Amino acid sequence: MSWYDAAGVDEVAPGTTRMVDIAGKRLAICNAKCDTDEGFYTIDNKCTHDGGPLNQGFLDGCQIECPRHGARFDVRTGKVLRLPAVRPVHSYATRVTGGRIEVEVGD
Ligand code: FES
Repeated sequence: MSWYDAAGVDEVAPGTTRMVDIAGKRLAICNAKCDTDEGFYTIDNKCTHDGGPLNQGFLDGCQIECPRHGARFDVRTGKVLRLPAVRPVHSYATRVTGGRIEVEVGD
């Protein structure tokens, strides 16, 4: 596992998502805010239902809604919160260092 530079903190505004390509993976960095957690979270950009681009979805607190058929995932864990998806998306450890968002991705 290695940490990769993904974006500047000012490049992902609160309540928005940004797509990045890191180590051969297409990821969605989410700047999410919910009751007790807020910050940057990273998940695979591809919906597990039928490949919808999650970065184009609606970020609602810590939930992201797929733009294709409305499945929802928790951006903190990748857990499915609403059908039609049944499998979670992969989530990645994310940290901020010196104003940069870094994501841990396996080699
Ligand atoms: S592709 Fe995401 S809900 Fe169908």
